[in-house]
Amino acid sequence: MKVLVVGKGGREHALVWKLTQSPRVERVYAAPGNPGMAQTATCVPINADLDVSAGAELQHEIARLRDFALAEDIELTVVGPESSLAGGLVDVFNAAGLKVFGPTAAAARLESDKAFAKDLMARTGVPTAEYRTFTDSARAIAYVQEQGAPVVVKASGLAAGKGAIVCHTLKEATDAIQQLMDERVFGDSGATVVVEEFMEGEEASFFVLTDGTDFVPLVSAQDHKPILEGDQGPNTGGMGAYAPAPVMTPTLIEATENRIVRPVLAGMRDGGCPFQGVLYCGLMIDDSGPRVVEFNCRFGDPEAQVILPLLETDLAEVLAAACDGRLATLKIGNSTGAAVCVVMASGGYPGPYEKGKAIHGIDTVDGRDGVMVFHAGTARKDGQLVTSGGRVLGVTAAAPDTAAAVKRAYAAADRISFEGAYYRRDIAYRALARR
Ligand code: AMP
Ligand code: GLY
Repeated sequence: MKVLVVGKGGREHALVWKLTQSPRVERVYAAPGNPGMAQTATCVPINADLDVSAGAELQHEIARLRDFALAEDIELTVVGPESSLAGGLVDVFNAAGLKVFGPTAAAARLESDKAFAKDLMARTGVPTAEYRTFTDSARAIAYVQEQGAPVVVKASGLAAGKGAIVCHTLKEATDAIQQLMDERVFGDSGATVVVEEFMEGEEASFFVLTDGTDFVPLVSAQDHKPILEGDQGPNTGGMGAYAPAPVMTPTLIEATENRIVRPVLAGMRDGGCPFQGVLYCGLMIDDSGPRVVEFNCRFGDPEAQVILPLLETDLAEVLAAACDGRLATLKIGNSTGAAVCVVMASGGYPGPYEKGKAIHGIDTVDGRDGVMVFHAGTARKDGQLVTSGGRVLGVTAAAPDTAAAVKRAYAAADRISFEGAYYRRDIAYRALARR
């Protein structure tokens, strides 16, 4: 089978890496891909990994990718980024009779339209924070003054993971509302704002692969969004992740499946937009059980980098089964081991940073001792591998347990270098503290 992976980051490199291992996959294409993926896949210079605000350009790239898939007889397309999904890539591929793993634009609203997701949860009784939706900033401000702090203010649309603002004071909440709604710092994503209750607890990410009706769970994970150790400082795209997340006990997993996954999938079917793809449940766990922080409509980045190495089933087969509505007939296996991903970032990230720094040492660790180095922001310049983004590499290791995986991942990261490289030293600290 010929498979196409859409995207250019670490998550997509992990997908390519896993799909390459499938005996039924003869060739993997990545669009646009990156130098890491180019080691095993054919990179195609078509970029449908653009912001939804790119509008006509995104649609143009999606149409080019469809034409490529038709011409090359691609049998399965796997979509990484949410923007391609919200932009309707799956709708366009479906209309051309192409098999594609991921939700339609209407179903991707679970992520791209937070107001839609909150309303669906309210209708189907899914536990989540209390909320109100606003299209008028004065009303939103009046509401937060009535509610008091802490409170969370969220842009309803996509904002590259930065649209949720946890406000500890009323001043912060008022400022956040003004920035999102009046100043439009995230463009039209802030036209509608969701104001919600601040939830206490421990966060975890739970993923299921679904055909819209049946689903199979993957191992749970936890990511580290803040730039600094101890989860301090501004949020990033993700500075590391580990799986499994010990906070997700078998009882909590069952509760998540029954109280969250089943009702949401049923609600999506009832609403005429069945959800096929990866349902990513961002959860807050406390004594009352799991509550939804957010849904995403795709694999997490960097969670995919730790979940996929633990999957013991042929990924191409499971994804094709999800596309064909055959998941009920499939069982998947997950390793009992653990995986840890340490993200090496450019100095200065998530603020301004320099690019084009030569990267050394990957070959001394990649593929040895359970280590996989997934590329996120890399490029080739005159034959030399250089940095080209904020998050540069996801140095990942699998091992029988989390402590061993942490050791392997850091031993590998310490042997890789580029000028200004920064990485957190405490990835997986919550899991280690629980032992
Ligand atoms: P989101 O983009 O919705 O995932 O939010 C980003 C981060 O903000 C989450 O990972 C949480 O750490 C935090 N967050 C969002 N909503 C809430 C909430 N209602 N209560 C507490 N923390 C939240
Ligand atoms: N790791 C967070 C995300 O993928 O949204």
